[in-house]
Amino acid sequence: MDKFIIEPNRNLSGDIHVSGAKNAILPAMAACLLAPGKSILHNVPDLIDLKTMAHLLRVIGARIEYENGIMSIDSKDVCYPEAPYELVSKMRASIYVLGPLLARLGKARVSFPGGCAIGTRPVDLHLKAMEALGAKINIDHGYINAQTEGLTGADIHFEKSSVGATINALMAAVLAHGTTNLYNAAMEPEVDSTIDILNKMGAKISGKSTTTLCIKGVDDLFPVQMDMIPDRIEAGTFLIAAALSTQPVRVCNCTADHLTALLDKLRESGCELEIESNKIRLYPAKRIKTTNILTLPYPGFPTDLQAQFTVLMSLADGISYVEDTIFPDRFMHVAELNRLQADITMQRNIACIKGVKKLNGAEVMATDLRASAALVLAGMVAEGSTTVSRIYHIDRGYDKIEQKLNSIGAKIRREKG
Ligand code: EPZ
Repeated sequence: MDKFIIEPNRNLSGDIHVSGAKNAILPAMAACLLAPGKSILHNVPDLIDLKTMAHLLRVIGARIEYENGIMSIDSKDVCYPEAPYELVSKMRASIYVLGPLLARLGKARVSFPGGCAIGTRPVDLHLKAMEALGAKINIDHGYINAQTEGLTGADIHFEKSSVGATINALMAAVLAHGTTNLYNAAMEPEVDSTIDILNKMGAKISGKSTTTLCIKGVDDLFPVQMDMIPDRIEAGTFLIAAALSTQPVRVCNCTADHLTALLDKLRESGCELEIESNKIRLYPAKRIKTTNILTLPYPGFPTDLQAQFTVLMSLADGISYVEDTIFPDRFMHVAELNRLQADITMQRNIACIKGVKKLNGAEVMATDLRASAALVLAGMVAEGSTTVSRIYHIDRGYDKIEQKLNSIGAKIRREKG
């Protein structure tokens, strides 16, 4: 298993470039199942999770090619409606094939996603939405078996805001007979991006960027070409790296409007920001001020950036609190950061972070994608050498993170293992 060996350097400077958004590309790939023929996605980074989704789509019968950030997906011959355990256990987003398979083939058999390093992650809202649209669902031997004679539009009220359930419901409803209304739908930019690709394919979805979406079912969808949006979480991770630096850094190819909650918190912590079209230049604070974080559905502070922000607060001037309301158990990074001599205690599901003068390098272990990113950021500022093992987690969602960070002055070496 590969490791990162990281030597400190807080003098980062220059430009760093953001790739396409993994969490927008995963549903876009699944959406291609709905439009028989060859769709082409642009701005697609080379990520393990996207390879896993490509593998799954091939199992289902799609033909996929990938070169230089361009992915083509030919879904003409899709015929095998199964997402096997082997792939779903690697990546929960495999559940995204449920809606499209039901809509296109009238049936789907998807392995029930199991446990996850960031806590319990049920799929009940996905299943309730499919049932509301007329699917019959039963669970047997660890598989979700869904079947329908034809989906029919319905009113669906989500009990909780869920990115995945909103997207799955959209992908099922676009080909359903009649009108579907989704209430308390998620508003994340990745949901908007899914609406954009579906509408480009010929779907009729209105209400984008609101919590109420209306989908008028159509008979057919057509293949498209689509540019994928920049990854707001990668951009946010780089902005936090910049906030930990002593010199200004410019994060390029990002959408500031998708990062409002983070940008507010970075300003509160003393950073100055200059926003110009799709670039954000961050001037770090001389002394990092404390600020509290409460993760919430978009446009609130994203759960996917709380671990990285915790690193910044570990070096702040005083005490701050981080509470994750989306995934209350998503604090595996805390014990690892304390190995680097951060001073963080957990009070129920709230991290209480006492700022320290410096972190000290040590051996730490990555536990999930964003926790790994946090450990890399911590290693970049900790005195002495830090080794982050199990970095396959980071390769799932960050394209060549060490090369990108090294291009602005970080000292990260990948040791193959
Ligand atoms: C998406 O996961 C992202 N994954 C996650 O990013 C992200 O952390 C999360 O949204 C929240 O923003 C992808 O886009 C592939 P949810 P998702 O359904 O869709 C509860 C990363 O690091 N819930 O919005 O699975 C759930 O437990 C990953 O890139 C139910 O109760 O998240 C959570 O508390 C990790 N029942 C809340 O809703 C359900 O059926 C929101 O989860 C579904 C969700």
